[in-house]
Amino acid sequence: MTDFTTTRKLFHLPDGVIYLDGNSLGPLPVAAAKRVSQTLEAEWGEMLIRGWNAAGWMEQPARVGDRVGRLVGAEPGTVVMGDTLSIKVYQALAAALDLNPGRKVVLSDNGNFPSDLYIAQGLLRSRGAGHELKVVDPEAVEAAIDDTVAVLMLTEVDYRTGRLHDMKALTAKAHAAGVITVWDLAHSAGALPVELAAAQADFAVGCTYKYLNGGPGAPAFIYVAPRHAHTARPSLSGWMGHEAPFAFDLDYRAGTGIERMRVGTPPVIALASLEAALDAWNGVDMGDLRAASIALSESFIKQVEARCPDLTLASPRDPSRRGSQVSFRHPEGYAIMQALIVRGVIGDFRAPDILRFGFTPLYVSQEDVLRAVEILAEIMADRLWDKEEYRKKARVT
Ligand SMILES: Cc1ncc(COP(=O)(O)O)c(C=O)c1O
Repeated sequence: MTDFTTTRKLFHLPDGVIYLDGNSLGPLPVAAAKRVSQTLEAEWGEMLIRGWNAAGWMEQPARVGDRVGRLVGAEPGTVVMGDTLSIKVYQALAAALDLNPGRKVVLSDNGNFPSDLYIAQGLLRSRGAGHELKVVDPEAVEAAIDDTVAVLMLTEVDYRTGRLHDMKALTAKAHAAGVITVWDLAHSAGALPVELAAAQADFAVGCTYKYLNGGPGAPAFIYVAPRHAHTARPSLSGWMGHEAPFAFDLDYRAGTGIERMRVGTPPVIALASLEAALDAWNGVDMGDLRAASIALSESFIKQVEARCPDLTLASPRDPSRRGSQVSFRHPEGYAIMQALIVRGVIGDFRAPDILRFGFTPLYVSQEDVLRAVEILAEIMADRLWDKEEYRKKARVT
């Protein structure tokens, strides 16, 4: 049984804060601060350029990739780190399209994160090959999979509502119709068990600043199934994905396997922070994590519904259909969230009316849930949110 009182001690949480926003930005792992200063001082400071070889900076994207891969059910050697998630979406979609050259439709849904859709729009336009991005309701995805579709591109867990797609079933249906799949795991990795290999996913991408606690702007990851690893053509054919970067050939030759999905120089300091953050997962059983996350979200929903009748559940009621976040709707959602944050309960807001709360058992307990609901119930009962200052929207909501 995973001991979540131990994992909580691995994080720095400011006094008086109940942090229910780890689905957006994970908190600082104590070990990450130490590791980053070691990387700065002992590696960059003392080794200078020698760090690339002596400190293993060059292998870092694949080494860290393997550790992330274990958390998402990937085979060893199939995940590599680098860039941001938007870039990884581009790479995965471009490579997937090349594997299905005879077809012109990319199928996605309107629960997808806008950046994924924007990236697809830009990529399809620049190809100039008559591709179409077809965006349907999440419930209509399954029926829309047919033999006109080249690529099915979905985010497994909806960033607003937490609704969870059935990756295994949709991938199987896609494959039966000759469709290649791209899964965005931004709200899945570290949030719930993911079985990429067992689901036979083709490509997957994800970020590491949310449930994996790598820090703001932490590098993203990309997974390529072993059956595609040597045929997937990198569209962003940068030198770090070349077979021999230091041969400085004038022509690109794709690197071996997943290495070809590297683009440029890896973000060594950010990867050091992430590498230390991943230590928090040693000894964590993903089944235990899922059970604890469901217990937290179920008790939150039950109490909020009992005590805050003006808030409407926006997430699926069935916990097996949700990721690790819970959302409620209210027309004054933004002001309510500001009132919560001022009182130490940190969640976030997504337009037009969604209050989001993330449940991360590594550092959130049932006592936190109880206390958060107390504060929320008081805000709602006494209309403490009804202040002009709480309605002023900041740049990041
Ligand atoms: C599902 C999903 N995809 C893509 C992105 C974009 O990620 P990035 O800003 O790291 O490129 C996000 C950001 O939150 C996301 O939630």
